[in-house]
Amino acid sequence: MNIVGVIGAGQMGAGIAQVSAQAGYRVLLSDVSLDRARAGLAGIAKQLDRAVTKEKIAAADRDAALALIEPVEGASAMGDCDLVIEAATEREEIKRAIFGDVGAVLRPDAILATNTSSIPITRLAQAAPDPARFVGVHFFNPVPVMGLIELIRGLATSDATVATVEDFARTLGKQVVRANDAPGFIVNRVLMPMLNEACFALGEGVATIPDIDLGCQLGLNHPMGPLTLADFIGLDTCLEITRVLHEGTGDPKFRPAPLLVKYVEAGWLGRKTGRGFYDYRGDAPVPTR
Ligand code: 3HC
Repeated sequence: MNIVGVIGAGQMGAGIAQVSAQAGYRVLLSDVSLDRARAGLAGIAKQLDRAVTKEKIAAADRDAALALIEPVEGASAMGDCDLVIEAATEREEIKRAIFGDVGAVLRPDAILATNTSSIPITRLAQAAPDPARFVGVHFFNPVPVMGLIELIRGLATSDATVATVEDFARTLGKQVVRANDAPGFIVNRVLMPMLNEACFALGEGVATIPDIDLGCQLGLNHPMGPLTLADFIGLDTCLEITRVLHEGTGDPKFRPAPLLVKYVEAGWLGRKTGRGFYDYRGDAPVPTR
């Protein structure tokens, strides 16, 4: 495998492009406009600059990685790729439209993968050029730091596709787990109920925001408390995945916490909007309740 296409130059797409280039792949990075793709590359340059300053990588490695990433406009620029990873907005109609554009140019031996965190792979595969060469490849945020990739096969995904993408994932220095195409796959199936339960606990007055976070952070030895992590992921994303678990299993144990719904309805979506369970607009985060 030589050329990797990444569609979507936001936080996840940029992270995937960065780790792919650092592993030596040529990367085509696209977004809805060339400007957005270039902004994604600028963000990667900043991350790599920081790594050079911290003496984690050499300046020559930064330059080599950046030289391998080419911003391109739109999904239809992916005709030369061996593997295309879609990391666009988590909306099914957007992903389906992208698969149509990529499908028109994708080589007959190339693989299309999606970084969806919640949409069923088998359903999405219906919009892909070839469901046998379609697979879920779920990265975690922040991509350069997190050591895991979940591989999810749809009903029609071929063994060869799974093996090729697994080999690729390992060359990025990540460990791979294989999941079946069930709601939330492995990690979000377990994580989201915990974050949702923290919202129930807050709503029921069990404890304050900082105490729920500190309790879980130190009591469970997690890097972040659940409400801080929910803000980091985005409360809209947490709610969306929780709804997928609820609807996909039909099990009431997954029902979204009313307080989580309220925060999303208020537009308090976490770090990305400056306010979620904490207010990030000042020097230090301040709890919002
Ligand atoms: N990109 C690259 N590197 C980053 C980064 C980013 N966005 N954010 C932090 N880092 C690096 C730092 O450079 C630092 O590296 P160093 O230790 O080698 O110098 C290291 O991560 C630690 O960073 P900080 O010291 O700034 O801060 P923390 O110690 O608080 O760590 C954290 C930050 C890595 C985000 C840590 O808190 C963490 O691991 N949190 C949990 C993250 C998590 O659970 N992610 C999964 C979310 S679920 C998901 O993605 C699935 C989706 O479908 C919802």
